[in-house]
Order: sequence, then C-alpha cells, then structure tokens
Amino acid sequence: MLSTDQELFEQIEFQENPLYERIIQDILERKYSIVDDFFNADEVAILRKQLINKYEEDNFKKAAIGNRTSEVIEKSIRGDFILWINEAEAGEAEKTYFNKINSLVEYLNRTCFMGILTKEFHYAVYPEGTFYKRHLDTFQNDGRRKLSMVCYLNTEDWKPENGGELAIYTQENGQEKQLNIYPFPGRVVIFESQELEHEVKPVKVPRLSITGWLKTR
Ligand code: OGA
Ligand code: NI
Repeated sequence: MLSTDQELFEQIEFQENPLYERIIQDILERKYSIVDDFFNADEVAILRKQLINKYEEDNFKKAAIGNRTSEVIEKSIRGDFILWINEAEAGEAEKTYFNKINSLVEYLNRTCFMGILTKEFHYAVYPEGTFYKRHLDTFQNDGRRKLSMVCYLNTEDWKPENGGELAIYTQENGQEKQLNIYPFPGRVVIFESQELEHEVKPVKVPRLSITGWLKTR
C-alpha cells in the first residue's frame, strides 16, 4: 500500500521514548507508575517558588470534597489547600510544567489511543497535621478522570520522617497491599484514577505538590 506523504512524515517523526514506554508498561501491568526526576531540581525549585508566592498571596483555598455543585469542606477527610492552575495564564514556571505534561499526553494518545482530551491541575499544600483519607479520585463525581498525576515540590532535604506518604492500595492475588510512596521532590506518581484507592498520610512538615488529572470526553 502506498503511504501518503503525511503518513511517511509521521513515521519518520515518531521517536520512541523509553521513559514514556516504561510509564505505559507500568500502568498496564499494575495501574501505577513512579518516576523519580520527572522534573529536575531546577524545575522543582522554580515551581516551588511559584507555589509559595501564590500561597503567601492568599490565593489558595481549602480543598473540598464532592463535585462542583455540592462541595463541602470536611477536615476529617482532607485538610489540604489548593489553587487551580489555568494553563492559558501559565507563567514561565508553569509553562515548563505543561510542556512536559503535554508531551506525555501526546505520546499516550498516539501510542495507546487513550483519548485524553482535557486535563486539570492544582497546586496543593498540606499544612502540618493534615492528611487526605483513603479515597478514589472519582469521588469528585467526575468519571472522565482517567489518570491521576501527582508531582512533589518539596525541598531536597525532605525526610521520610516528615510523613505525608502517598499510600496506594493494590490487589495482588486477591490480597490487598499497601504501597507507601515518599513525596520526594521531582518525583511524579501516575495512576488509574478510577481503579486505585489511595491516601495521604498525616504530614509533619508542610507538603507541597501539583496534582492533576488527564481526562477523557
Ligand atoms: C488527591 C490526592 C495525592 C498526593 O489530591 O486526590 O490523592 O500524594 N493526592 O498528594
Ligand atoms: Ni486522590
């Protein structure tokens, strides 16, 4: 069969990306993937600075549970403060962030037919003593959420004793298993929003992140 110029062009242009391939493989095999250094130390520092500026300007609000029409603030379930990020108004720091995310999304759509059409991201701060009880990310009544992505913006000296682990609950041979993931800077955790229950353990030192969802129609 004859290829059109466009098809040839796409075949030449397509570059297999080992990191993205690993993420896809992980998600297919176990519904989650953990990538250290998805963002380098400089990128994390810039994003952290941006987050702190906005937090100090009082732009964050207490995170709610439920959907947009029935939001309730329930401190016994989650205690974080969030600020939604508007990609159209992204500053330099956030542009770098979205460039990387968009590159991954294009790859997923191209290689796995994931059909990711929209995304939403927010900064999050968990002050000392806060947590987010075990939940599914479809809790927000948004069945379009396909993949959850959390990117940690803590400082380089973050210690396991600081708490705030992301606990992911998986099933292995009919047995529930709990995996605790430390929120080290630059680390990104990606998981299937509708499949994996997870929680944020109580934090002892303020914990900074960007959390987001890749969504289908
Ligand atoms: C969430 C969430 C996990 C984390 O915001 O829904 O589960 O590690 N966050 O911050
Ligand atoms: Ni969640």
